[in-house]
Amino acid sequence: MSLCKRRGFVFPSSEIYGGFGAIYDYGHYGTLLKNNIRDAWWKHMVQYREDVVALDSAIFMHPTTWKASGHVDSFDDPQVDCRKCKARMRADHLLEEFGVNADKQTIEFLNTELDKLRVEKKLKCVVCGSSDLTEAKQFSLMVKSNLGSPTDALSEENVVYLRPETCGGIYLEYKNTVDSTRMKLPFGIAQVGKAFRNEIVARQFIFRTREFEQMEMQYFLHPDEMKTKYEEWKKTRWQWYLDYGMSENDIRWYKHEKLAHYASEAYDVEYNFRSLGGFKEIEGIHARGDWDLSQHSKFSGVDLTYFDEKTKERFIPHIMETSVGLGRLFLMFIDKAYTEELIGDETRTVLKFDYRLAPVKIAIFPLLKNKPELVAKAKEIYNQLKLKWQCEFDDNGNVGKRYRRQDEIGTPFCVTIDFDTIEKDNTVTVRDRDTMQQERVTVDGLLDFFGKKL
Ligand code: GAP
Repeated sequence: MSLCKRRGFVFPSSEIYGGFGAIYDYGHYGTLLKNNIRDAWWKHMVQYREDVVALDSAIFMHPTTWKASGHVDSFDDPQVDCRKCKARMRADHLLEEFGVNADKQTIEFLNTELDKLRVEKKLKCVVCGSSDLTEAKQFSLMVKSNLGSPTDALSEENVVYLRPETCGGIYLEYKNTVDSTRMKLPFGIAQVGKAFRNEIVARQFIFRTREFEQMEMQYFLHPDEMKTKYEEWKKTRWQWYLDYGMSENDIRWYKHEKLAHYASEAYDVEYNFRSLGGFKEIEGIHARGDWDLSQHSKFSGVDLTYFDEKTKERFIPHIMETSVGLGRLFLMFIDKAYTEELIGDETRTVLKFDYRLAPVKIAIFPLLKNKPELVAKAKEIYNQLKLKWQCEFDDNGNVGKRYRRQDEIGTPFCVTIDFDTIEKDNTVTVRDRDTMQQERVTVDGLLDFFGKKL
């Protein structure tokens, strides 16, 4: 967290006003890293595939969307309050600490289990340690707003919601997509966008926030294909993590035993966070049956069936989804990349990102700031390389300090322009982030050199 703030990756939102719970802003390097992660996902989910198309739907949707999906009535989390320090906790998380599987359980079940812990004097506030906790009650995660009417007239009739997941927009645009593209089942629609949830507790930095970005893909298919396609997508998503630097030991599958009533299968990809002390959910892969399109068809009165020209069969497509939080992936990649190495008696902190994810690819330094000929040559090289890669020019402090700074940002290569460059052989020093090895490369060969490396 400290490195993220110090180096301009992530800032607490509204900090000059004392911060705003569980909302974060992404600074320069954070934005670059986040965009690179998003692009890495997008390439594999859309660009490299013939069976997935893109969408960018609005955050505000007709409020009936969330009635139909069941969110208005039951998108809740169980909440427990501390009467002493007013801290808010998730009842299911409290129970899970004691080995009780509380996922998607009824409020009665949770209160019975909490009572058992109370009797054993084990139930304590996670913040102040007090045992004076309330019963669990349901707390809606939906974030309400209003459009076209004054805020003071906000009532249940004119309320609109900020979407709690991006897939709602995909279901509503399923018909337009089929009608306007040549897509035939099975096919997917992918989108990246903001989602909002009134999370009860959010104490784990950007792991769980109230405003976050989701990257979701909804795959529409005939029910007979569900098993095969589900397994295919599981493999595809697993491989994506391996391709971007995770090892087989870093991630694992978690199979949900208790499923939403419409779901037939749900697995999460979990990552073993060093910073959060263990495996935590990163991505969900869910077989959702025909629930979504059936519900929207029922509530809108619009026919959302699909007619298969070959089999002459008409049916409501079933859906399987892959859903991942961009901020959560961001935290995972930083957690994995963060390395401390002892160099002599100094500790070097370095973010060893996959090159494709690194926010800055090349940093360019003149050896000395006060030698105009070095600065001019360095600027010339910077201006050439920046057209192809995200580069950074740095002439602050000595070269050692600049290396340390770029290491903490995760920049794969640093280029130093020195007197040999201009007086002798037109070569520069290229230093590798991970090995710290340096080699001389001709200025004319830099585009080719980095083209191969990056
Ligand atoms: N459409 C299915 C869906 O939204 P989910 O399990 O609620 O399923 C999917 O969310 C993913 O979205 C999670 O695995 C996580 O990566 C991310 N996510 C959910 N809530 C989040 C939050 N409050 N903050 C950050 N990421 C979140």
